[in-house]
Amino acid sequence: MTRKGIILAGGTGSRLYPITMGASKQLLPIYDKPMIYYPLSVLMLAGIREIAIITTPEDQPQFRRLLGDGSQWGLSFAFIEQPRPEGLAQAYLLARDFLAGAPSAMVLGDNIFFGHGLTEVLAAAMARPEGTIFGYRVSDPERYGVLEFDPDGRARAIVEKPAAPPSRYAVTGLYFLDGAAPERAAEIRPSARGELEIADLLSGYLAEGALTVEIMGRGYAWLDTGTQGSLLDAGNFVRTLQQRQGLQTGCPEEIAYRASWIDRNQLFALCECHGQSAYAQHLQELLRD
Ligand code: DAU
Repeated sequence: MTRKGIILAGGTGSRLYPITMGASKQLLPIYDKPMIYYPLSVLMLAGIREIAIITTPEDQPQFRRLLGDGSQWGLSFAFIEQPRPEGLAQAYLLARDFLAGAPSAMVLGDNIFFGHGLTEVLAAAMARPEGTIFGYRVSDPERYGVLEFDPDGRARAIVEKPAAPPSRYAVTGLYFLDGAAPERAAEIRPSARGELEIADLLSGYLAEGALTVEIMGRGYAWLDTGTQGSLLDAGNFVRTLQQRQGLQTGCPEEIAYRASWIDRNQLFALCECHGQSAYAQHLQELLRD
């Protein structure tokens, strides 16, 4: 079965109040694009074209306005509501009908990945029948789901926001799981903070040896947008990179065009609807290439 994508873009964004009082966090700008373009691009780079976008009911109209039905990028979007932020693993319950037994790749709407070789790493995860998650070394593991390793260096569990982290390796918000994820998520009970924890779902797979843990090395950037400072840092990172290279990162039009999911005429039409922006200029350059 073809793997389907999920972008989890709900939540209250309360750590960013007042910025997120009037708009969803995942629609905020990361330099020149809405945040959700970056995780969307990761799914596209993996070759996934059928994607569910999970948002709060209130925010869904704005996401629809921005993203449409996906056909402009050769994709197909389904919009699913999450009434309350009851945990990352709940996404699999909400997306059960959409997935209809297919394996999935879920990405959190506020996670940004960049790195040489990312496409190859994604291709390997796509091809693996069992699931794949990604570990990334961070200076502040207590803020994340953290990998716990056994003495042989094999990951044996994931602990969510531990006061005493068992390692420096955070689990990134990109999860490739098999078609059983919704059933397994239904078995999980809410944690003390009232959420269906992704760490519990993943630890179950790990205990059975049914999950590959890939470490993303120092050549990758996994950026966080959880605080005012890290939001600004992510924007500056993208700006620095794009200005230096004259290339875009996280541009759905470019990925769709290079994958031949849209043709020149469609790209031309997309250029036209971006007005006088620098983004439109980049799309024009693509047409000239
Ligand atoms: O970013 C990676 C981390 O994401 C992982 O290392 C953790 O294991 C995982 O729990 C998560 O931690 P966060 O503290 O970043 O989770 P947060 O509650 O901020 O939610 C992450 C994103 O998911 C955010 O964009 C909001 C969205 N979300 C969250 C919850 C709990 C939803 O859409 N629905 C939800 O129910």
